[in-house]
Amino acid sequence: MPAFPMASLYRLELLLTYALGIYAFKYQTHKDIVTVPTNGKPFPWDKLRLPDMVVPIQYDLYIHPNLTTLHFTGLERIEILVRKNTSFIILHSKGLEITSAVLLTKDDLGSSKPEKQLHVLEHPAHEQIALQAPEVLTTGQRYLVIIEFHASLADGFDGFYKSIYKTRDGETRIIATTDFEPTSARMAFPCFDEPSFKANFAITIRRERKHVALSNMPKIKTIELEGDLLEDHFDVTVKMSTYLVAYIVCDFKFVQATTLSGIKVSIYASPDKWYQTHYALEAALKLLEFYEQHFDISFPLPKLGKSNISISTVHIQLSL
Ligand SMILES: *[C@@H]1O[C@H](CO)[C@@H](O)[C@H](O)[C@H]1NC(C)=O
Ligand SMILES: *[C@@H]1O[C@H](CO)[C@@H](O)[C@H](O)[C@H]1NC(C)=O
Ligand SMILES: *[C@@H]1O[C@H](CO)[C@@H](O)[C@H](O)[C@H]1NC(C)=O
Repeated sequence: MPAFPMASLYRLELLLTYALGIYAFKYQTHKDIVTVPTNGKPFPWDKLRLPDMVVPIQYDLYIHPNLTTLHFTGLERIEILVRKNTSFIILHSKGLEITSAVLLTKDDLGSSKPEKQLHVLEHPAHEQIALQAPEVLTTGQRYLVIIEFHASLADGFDGFYKSIYKTRDGETRIIATTDFEPTSARMAFPCFDEPSFKANFAITIRRERKHVALSNMPKIKTIELEGDLLEDHFDVTVKMSTYLVAYIVCDFKFVQATTLSGIKVSIYASPDKWYQTHYALEAALKLLEFYEQHFDISFPLPKLGKSNISISTVHIQLSL
């Protein structure tokens, strides 16, 4: 008999926890709709998962980080496809200050028609924003959403964050790098930050001459700007999830070689550690060739980059 009351108690506790959970969840949802108005209006979506009325096709993403001020500004143009009439575009954004959001139809591009302002509503608890259009966006149409934003480089190891390393002479250097998996791309640019919303990404990064910019795809051109700044334009990615987007601005040096199948492999490291990269390059080439032969599958991208960025005592390897 002594086992019985114990088991019942345990069951009762489970039941209570469950009931309280449901109550808390209901209360939370209810509270979100009714009492979290942003900019004076209730947020039009109460779920954690994004609606699928609007899907992204391509992001043209321009990022301008400053490793001195530890701040970055961004400008993105998202081509979207409307699947169901709606006047809201709901996407993720976390900790970003949005300074402007406008809408264009593809036909408006290049014409003198004024763009339409989108009203920005925020729902910080769900890391979502809603862009309210002045008209109904119609099924089957494509539009361009242009968003300007800025933020500080993050302090942690998520989103677009700053990382430091010391040179052999004890000088502290800063690098800016991303880590988006699983849900931190929204800290770097407003986006549909769920893996199923795959899109192409065309990334452009502004930097100083003493730095390099790295991203998923090969660089197609560098433009010289006033003030001795440079702008690197990277090729458009394959269709992929937001968490796979990566970019780094740093003063690293690299070694590079090409596999038998023509994939460029690069290893980046801080200038002091550059001499250690040759072995890593040799190993990376051998491994990539081995896997391509073993699985009889070619590496799907034109390049593979590895960089050794230390996070205090943890080391991560980025596949760029
Ligand atoms: C969508 O909006 C357009 C333009 O306002 C309208 O003509 C069409 O009937 C709407 N479709 C649906 C399914 O509501
Ligand atoms: C960062 O800010 C410093 C100081 O304001 C400036 O000299 C430098 O050019 C800026 N760098 C970039 C990439 O904007
Ligand atoms: C990689 O990072 C670790 C930790 O900072 C460091 O000890 C090692 O020398 C680095 N290697 C290269 C090639 O940069």
